[in-house]
Amino acid sequence: MDISRLAQRLAEAGQSHLLQFWDQLSPEEQAELAFELESMDFKEINCFFKHAMEASGQTKQEKVDARMEPVPREVLGSVTRDRESLKDWEEEGLRCISQSKVAVLLLAGGQGTRLGVSYPKGMYDVGLPSHKTLFQIQAERILKLEQLAEQHHATKCCIPWYIMTSGRTMDSTKEFFSKHKYFGLKEENVIFFQQGMLPAMDYNGTIILEGKGKLAMAPDGNGGLYRSLGAHKIVEDMERRGIAYIHVYCVDNILVKVADPAFVGFCVRKGADCGAKVVEKTNPTEAVGVVCKVDGRYQVVEYSEITLATAEKRSTDGRLMFNAGNVANHFFSLPFLKDVVNTHEPQLQHHVAQKKIPYVDTQGQLIKPDKPNGIKMEKFVFDIFQFAKNFVVYEVLREDEFSPLKNADSQDGKDNPTTARHALMSLHHRWILNAGGHFIDENGTRVPAIPRHGPAGTLSPDGSQNLKDGTDLPIKCEISPLVSYGGEGLEKLVNGREFHAALVIDTRGIHEHVKNGL
Ligand code: UD1
Repeated sequence: MDISRLAQRLAEAGQSHLLQFWDQLSPEEQAELAFELESMDFKEINCFFKHAMEASGQTKQEKVDARMEPVPREVLGSVTRDRESLKDWEEEGLRCISQSKVAVLLLAGGQGTRLGVSYPKGMYDVGLPSHKTLFQIQAERILKLEQLAEQHHATKCCIPWYIMTSGRTMDSTKEFFSKHKYFGLKEENVIFFQQGMLPAMDYNGTIILEGKGKLAMAPDGNGGLYRSLGAHKIVEDMERRGIAYIHVYCVDNILVKVADPAFVGFCVRKGADCGAKVVEKTNPTEAVGVVCKVDGRYQVVEYSEITLATAEKRSTDGRLMFNAGNVANHFFSLPFLKDVVNTHEPQLQHHVAQKKIPYVDTQGQLIKPDKPNGIKMEKFVFDIFQFAKNFVVYEVLREDEFSPLKNADSQDGKDNPTTARHALMSLHHRWILNAGGHFIDENGTRVPAIPRHGPAGTLSPDGSQNLKDGTDLPIKCEISPLVSYGGEGLEKLVNGREFHAALVIDTRGIHEHVKNGL
């Protein structure tokens, strides 16, 4: 194979080392490496590196903190403070959905490193009685919402589901959907597309080799969305389908209200081109970004990029000053998204994440470093807020809408399969109570509405975790999204009735599994 042209290009870009093991590779490995390198634009990559490193400098960081301002009240809607408008927003959202104007877009290109599984996070089963995966729960919420919109407006409608994957997650995600027959959705309304990848680099801008013939590649961040929307002509697909509004969300939140009619309706009524859903951040060190203004423009300052001093600042009422916690649920109008893809995307900067990146040394030995030795470059999905002409923020309750799955289970862990499962079951318990149903224990005594606390050292209800003192024990209770999207429609099933846990309500009926108990 003649690689002189390739070698020349690499030399010009200062990346000649990528061919250092060429003679030791098999013909297949050589072909694979050459193919990968041919498709890469090294000038562009070097440029990304230069700009990302410049932007991540410490002095600049301190300046960002000084320029941050909280979200002003006038752009804020709230499920608690604006109760009288909620119905109206919900109806507006349902109307848009019934006209097939709303699409959902799932960001599912992440690698799930913290959760520690080798397959896409959406395929994870957090151990609910039904053993539904995150993908299935989301698919069923879409189906139910289509039904609700159809019932309200006596018309057929569709919520297309765009799913962004990466080189690491595409094949397994597609196979999973196909194996599960798209969970009842029409195949043509589930649209997969793939985001780009970038090489990891050391601090001098040298691309890291993780094998003799293999570059250390990683997805280019969830803000890689905009470039891939352009590359795969997704905006054109949305236009063809008559989409006007898009709800973008992350895969890992078990409580996510996919295409939430109230959020969509709020944004539409406010005439917004871009919106973000938030929960109140109460702990300064919680790993959520904060929505705020920097130099008068909307932005999320990510948890990895805010200083502790700023994160800890409080207002006179004692609340955190920067408390608009980003739950990674965004609203875009189609013209805004189109403008971003066609015009603004190249202006987005990569953020730098310092990582421990396995590499081969000059002898070809694999080394696993114990401290960060290089960077990955990522764009962030919310970096386009700055281009919005009418930006709004919608605040919801954490216990109703936000329980992300980030980490593996551990004794005192946060955001793990146990916390996600408990959050969903305790939400469904509250739905039952609100619809007039009750739970009774094995002695026939009503279980109090507020979950009881587990004494230190006891097992959680499903035996999965040793509890700390004060840990909530939720009632084991699960309602299929196909029965209820957001707690509606349950009165006729549960009002005035008493149930034993574990309770499962699905389209086949009401099931009590007393043995599994509380
Ligand atoms: C994200 C938000 C953070 C928010 C938090 C809430 C971003 C950049 N940060 O943080 O502000 O408070 O969620 O849970 O959005 N993904 C891709 N491609 C990639 C990388 C990630 O599609 O290259 C997807 C993941 O599959 C996931 C989502 O983006 O669905 C968020 O990724 P994750 O790394 O979990 O974000 P966090 O750091 O938790």
